[in-house]
Amino acid sequence: MDFSELRREALRMRSFSYVPYSNFCVGAALMTKDGRIYTGCNIENASYTPTNCAERTAFFKAVSEGEMDFCAIAIAGGPKGAEELDYCPPCGVCRQVMMEFCDPKTFQVILVKSEDEYKTYTLEEVMPLGFGPIDMGIEK
Ligand code: THU
Repeated sequence: MDFSELRREALRMRSFSYVPYSNFCVGAALMTKDGRIYTGCNIENASYTPTNCAERTAFFKAVSEGEMDFCAIAIAGGPKGAEELDYCPPCGVCRQVMMEFCDPKTFQVILVKSEDEYKTYTLEEVMPLGFGPIDMGIEK
């Protein structure tokens, strides 16, 4: 599957990050199995803990529109205005949200540095021995 648009969307979404506290802009783009893309950015808060990561913004937008089947997420993050990005791995809370909705063996987590510099992992690789719906007896 070609994820070039997904990677571009993750990079583009950084421009919408609301980050007055960290100045660290993260963009994410989540793809459904039938090819629809849901985007997200990080949204911070003066009280800190209500901050929502880019990945969760994308998931919650998608799930709230009735989507449940996902194949990949692209993530791009780094300091505002940075000329070059490093790889920005998803935080533990976002990995846990991925576990809720995605198959750890097939869901692709794509870390994006630039349009053609990226690394791809399965969810299982970034979340070994993860706890998910199956452990609660829920078959999807
Ligand atoms: N952030 C994300 O949006 N995604 C991640 O997976 C890592 C962290 C955000 C949260 C906060 O707004 C900023 O990056 C610094 O932690």
